[in-house]
Amino acid sequence: MTDPCILKTENLSLSYGGFTAVDKVNLQVKHKTVHSVIGPNGAGKTSLFHCLTGGRRPTGGRILFKDEEITNKSAHARVGSGMARSFQITSLFQNLTVRENLRLASQGRDGNRALVFWRSVSARGEHQALADQVMERLGLTHKAGVAAGDLSHGQQRILEVGMALCGKPALLLLDEPTAGMGVNDIPMMTELIAELGKDYSVLLIEHNMGIVMSISDTITVMSRGNVLIEGKPAEIRADMRVREAYLGEVA
Ligand SMILES: Nc1ncnc2c1ncn2[C@@H]1O[C@H](COP(=O)(O)OP(=O)(O)OP(=O)(O)O)[C@@H](O)[C@H]1O
Ligand SMILES: [Mg+2]
Repeated sequence: MTDPCILKTENLSLSYGGFTAVDKVNLQVKHKTVHSVIGPNGAGKTSLFHCLTGGRRPTGGRILFKDEEITNKSAHARVGSGMARSFQITSLFQNLTVRENLRLASQGRDGNRALVFWRSVSARGEHQALADQVMERLGLTHKAGVAAGDLSHGQQRILEVGMALCGKPALLLLDEPTAGMGVNDIPMMTELIAELGKDYSVLLIEHNMGIVMSISDTITVMSRGNVLIEGKPAEIRADMRVREAYLGEVA
């Protein structure tokens, strides 16, 4: 039987000097699910995220992606093997349209071959087709000709996710995709992530409990670098330890 997990960590640890931010974390993300990581401020979520994306080298443990060890692989190599993180707004071409941004992201996935892209009409067609498919999925087709810089903040963040999708990833990593978004834009992002969970694996770090509870298949709660508990939304909601972890933060 094939492994039901796309991503696993084994005793993954990250220390900053003498301080351990991620402490022997064992995480298992299944195929085609939305898996959220929550926890109070400073729990180690972003540190974990950096280890997974290759932004930081873990100080202990292993990371397996599609049954292959990637612990020491570069961020770039991880993207190449099918792991994508959402781009930052600063990576969007503000003066280019939504459609053009997505087409560039689609071209980018071909690496060096994109350099000779102008020679190949069929490749151009493929890139455009992928861009249009992603644009449809984002619900931004009606904004195809609008410059990225003229979109609302929320729409720009949606477009960032789309840029990652143009790499045809198997796993999408999102660290607080709704941070800084207006309340009116949040349902759009929430719906998109829930939809993406049907075709991709999504690892979501998110503070907004309403979002996490409504779209997650699995929730891992971190506290002080450790996994406190893991389960389905209803189980997490009912667990007193989760409340205590958050209350402890306030106290
Ligand atoms: N570069 C760093 N150097 C030293 N300590 C760090 C560094 N980055 C984070 N930390 C510490 O590691 C701990 C975990 O931080 P991290 O940012 O991973 O938490 P988080 O769960 O993402 O928090 P938040 O919910 O606020 O985003 C915190 O105590 C933080 O102060
Ligand atoms: Mg964080």
